[in-house]
Amino acid sequence: MEIESVGVVGAGQMGNGIAHVMALAGYQVLLNDISEEALKSAVEIIDRNLDRQVSREKISAEEKAAAMARITTTGVLTDLGRTDLVIEAATEKESIKQAIFAELVPHLKPETILTSNTSSISITRLAARTDRPERFMGFHFMNPVPVMQLVELIRGIATDDSTYAACKAVVERLGKTPTMAEDFPAFIVNRILMPMINEAVYVLYEGVGSVVSIDQSLKLGANHPMGPLELADFIGLDTCLAIMNVLHEGLADTKYRPCPLLTKYVEAGWLGRKTRRGFYDYRGEVPVPTR
Ligand code: CAA
Repeated sequence: MEIESVGVVGAGQMGNGIAHVMALAGYQVLLNDISEEALKSAVEIIDRNLDRQVSREKISAEEKAAAMARITTTGVLTDLGRTDLVIEAATEKESIKQAIFAELVPHLKPETILTSNTSSISITRLAARTDRPERFMGFHFMNPVPVMQLVELIRGIATDDSTYAACKAVVERLGKTPTMAEDFPAFIVNRILMPMINEAVYVLYEGVGSVVSIDQSLKLGANHPMGPLELADFIGLDTCLAIMNVLHEGLADTKYRPCPLLTKYVEAGWLGRKTRRGFYDYRGEVPVPTR
């Protein structure tokens, strides 16, 4: 089946990035969110990020205009029923995702492929609650979506070969590289990345190093583009904690226990860049470590 139109559920950090790259690759994009405010702000962010690519001569002004023209927004979830591929990128809470699929499924075309951008929730379990486990898979983008090369494709136990092939072809049309992961907690990237971030928080918690020394060590000592605590703030500390909980519960191994200091930051509402405070305070001119 030829995919021409893409429905994106959720206009947050991931959703707007997905709409951006899909529109740039020539797909008609229908972007949905329950908040009109979020939709308006997503379109502004996409416009700004496309401008960034124009000014760096990655794309032309005409390509930007054509991409913007391919994006339509809607506050009505069921409008996405007419698209060929749906990517759910709502909040990382299983009950919310299940509710979205329950509402959307009766309105989908029989051939529509349904996917989730979940960073850790079981694809098999999400798929089992829909009418199309064979045409369901994980479509996991990395942040920032317009920049990162990888898309993880996760096959649930029932995902069929044609669904995988169709999704792989979409990733390739985006100019990105797909990797295939089996459906086990947090898949590949987060299974490896999150324990590293969690360990960095333990290093801070135990007083082995300060925020600055931990980040500098990994940036200068391992050539990571961001230190682990800076990266945690960038991803969102609530997301990091949610993924650690999925690993801890899903693999039943104490080596994945979330650091109490990470839990404390989340309880404080210090979630990183999006709340302007996390391991760094972003409210001033330059980020200042909070410990
Ligand atoms: N849209 C479009 N372009 C963007 C952009 C965006 N949102 N953000 C950055 N860019 C572009 C810039 O224009 C710039 O382009 P050129 O290379 O053409 O000049 C390039 O990206 C680099 O940006 P900057 O110069 O502003 O900043 P930088 O060099 O410090 O790089 C970064 C920023 C790309 C984010 C880099 O710090 C990085 O790679 N960090 C690590 C990111 C990472 O690990 N992401 C994965 C997180 S895990 C995940 O996402 C999975 C999950 O489920 C949690």
